[in-house]
Amino acid sequence: MHVVVAGGAGYIGSIVVRTLLREKYTVTVLDDLSHGNVWSLPKAARFVEGDIADPSAVQLAIHGEAHALMHFAAKIDVAESMRDPALYHSANVDKSLLLLSQIQMARVRYVVFSSTAAVYDPNTLQPLKEDAALEPVSVYGRTKLIVESALTELAKAGSLSYVALRYFNAAGASLEDGLGEAHPHETHLIPLTMRAVTTGSPLTIFGSDYPTPDGTCIRDYIDVRDLASAHLQALRYLERGGVSTAFNVGRGEGTSVRELLAMIEAVAGKPIPQAMGSRRQGDPSSLVADVQNIKRDLGWVARHSLQDTVESAWRWHTRSTSS
Ligand code: UFG
Repeated sequence: MHVVVAGGAGYIGSIVVRTLLREKYTVTVLDDLSHGNVWSLPKAARFVEGDIADPSAVQLAIHGEAHALMHFAAKIDVAESMRDPALYHSANVDKSLLLLSQIQMARVRYVVFSSTAAVYDPNTLQPLKEDAALEPVSVYGRTKLIVESALTELAKAGSLSYVALRYFNAAGASLEDGLGEAHPHETHLIPLTMRAVTTGSPLTIFGSDYPTPDGTCIRDYIDVRDLASAHLQALRYLERGGVSTAFNVGRGEGTSVRELLAMIEAVAGKPIPQAMGSRRQGDPSSLVADVQNIKRDLGWVARHSLQDTVESAWRWHTRSTSS
């Protein structure tokens, strides 16, 4: 069974590719390497270097027949999306629609789509259920929601069935696969904190006046290995005839920035150079997932503790900077 993985050279996609290969799927990665890493591609996967909006690249990736599409390819920087909305609508919406029209023509039956917690109105009651108000505050979140809507319409028309996985905060590394978080322009808390420990250049905490117990933002950090298994289980669910829907993927527990830094400090065994800064535009004070639906319908639960996740990230970070 052939799975096309769009954006399969990126942080999450590359770990999902390994998971699919272990489960004996035939995998083709379609990636333009604008954000992905060529070193993350395994020999066992076919690779088509190209744009998801280029019909010939997509058809080359499909290679006659594909069972499923996993779609990770997107721009993911929330702040950048606020500065340049047109870029995000073009990269995340327009290109996705072109990709979906190609896979529809090729009669690809199943789609697993990378969505985000950013589709929700963060001011609603937490933990967030999938049927909570969908009111993105960022352009990034809006672009993901538009693609979810397009998938809903395609599914209603009977073209395909899909699962949208709404990631909370992906974190950690798959040491077994030698893969971890390496974005070209890093904005995420855990890799930036690790960088602060190893370089001595301080991490800025974005805001300490949020309405949370310690004043810093609360997030639901989900291990990337658990995220990868959620993709596999979503595909299996579709193969069993599961109805098209969206699932939250989180641990269902919130951790504040200060709590996370204390954990990283303990794992690293070194102090984190840090400075207090003002709030970052667009950051909600709290985002925590309700994970009952994914547990009930996919049988998926997060297996890795946050401690485990932080340890994997630290080991991967120190290994990659020392080699
Ligand atoms: N933070 C800092 N300092 C930094 C970086 C981050 O204090 O240098 C804080 C942020 O303010 C936030 C928390 O750490 O409170 C987590 O920030 P990240 O940038 O790691 O992650 P986000 O929660 O902003 O982003 C995640 C996903 C996005 C998604 C977004 C939805 O990574 O893809 O949630 O809100 F869009």
